Amino acid sequence: MYINFWYAADWSHNLTTAPRKVRMLGHDIVLFRDSQGRAHALSDTCIHRGASLSEGKVKGDCVTCPYHGWHFNGEGHVRKIPSLGPGSENRVPQRGRIDAYPVEERYGLIHVFLGDLPAAERPPILEVPEYGQPGWRHTIMDYAWESNYERNIENGLDPAHNEFVHPTHGYSGEKEDYKVGDPTIENTPWGFGFMLNFQAPPIKNPVMRWARNYDGDLEAGSGHVGPSNMWTKIHLTPTRWIHQYIFETPIDEYHTKIFLICMRNVLLPTWVDKIVNKRNFAIAEQDRVVIEKLKPVKTPPSRARELLMPADKVIYLYRDSLDEWTRRGWRIDTEALRKAAERGDMVYAIPSPARRETRGWVLESVPLVPASPVETGSTPLSAVKSAVKASG
Ligand code: FES
Ligand SMILES: [Fe+2]
Repeated sequence: MYINFWYAADWSHNLTTAPRKVRMLGHDIVLFRDSQGRAHALSDTCIHRGASLSEGKVKGDCVTCPYHGWHFNGEGHVRKIPSLGPGSENRVPQRGRIDAYPVEERYGLIHVFLGDLPAAERPPILEVPEYGQPGWRHTIMDYAWESNYERNIENGLDPAHNEFVHPTHGYSGEKEDYKVGDPTIENTPWGFGFMLNFQAPPIKNPVMRWARNYDGDLEAGSGHVGPSNMWTKIHLTPTRWIHQYIFETPIDEYHTKIFLICMRNVLLPTWVDKIVNKRNFAIAEQDRVVIEKLKPVKTPPSRARELLMPADKVIYLYRDSLDEWTRRGWRIDTEALRKAAERGDMVYAIPSPARRETRGWVLESVPLVPASPVETGSTPLSAVKSAVKASG
């Protein structure tokens, strides 16, 4: 799991007057709206004596702790400590703040930036360019899987599973001439994308069949932005398109919350929404039953422990991106996190941008796998040693 990316926390419509707890990257985050209706995301652990802020109430512009009533504003600053009596806002200790994460509400989702990068350096939120555009309609759904998000994304990118996992899209290996094409990969700053042609069987659902009504190949493809957000484009005909945007949020290493926005420029009447959602859910289920049983649960640490084929090229590329973000020092040391949870004497916080500007935080920042910058063109130490030996 990686810090320094945007993660979808919840649908905007779910956050009303009460605070809400969401678990992301193995940490609890509290969401709440201030008096102006602006959404905020804070580390959920109260720095006084550890209560869960999402169990408290929203008062004015603050979320209040259920244990001793401390007030925290949207920037994570303590605004009131009731035990100190009137005027406590002027006697808040310097360490009286918790991590507050940048929030953006877009496409009906609350996106939270979990990391400490300054605004100019942050990767983007996965864009949904068709959202709200004339000629397009969207449906939404969400679900939770007992699976590792990297396995999910690899499945979403994998062009070779459709034939076998989705009878809706493939022939279950019955066609003698079946072969996966070689995708042309387009690199994007935080991932890549590709499109491929597929031979698809006739669609059973009469409404979807009406939309497809075309003899040519089905053009479809996927791409990812960051470790856990991706898109899938399905072109039923050269002009009738379904574009899906999938915002996956690792709850922890073994559970994933998935938010799906499905855009379509065909079958626009509202009564079709139900059919689209039913079909999307059925297709997701076809994936889930396979993915939740993969072994090991996470991808193996070495690629030698799998026998990858040319059709797995996109899997390689995705893992290369993850390796790059690991080298940058953005990967959470989940082993350290797990040990702390087992001991039960330590809670961490995901570092927020304010940690780069101020020192003195009550909670320790979550341990990260140390960064390992690649030194290009440098001489390996072993070569220097031989040279030293040779020169006596
Ligand atoms: S634990 Fe939150 S106010 Fe005491
Ligand atoms: Fe699938």
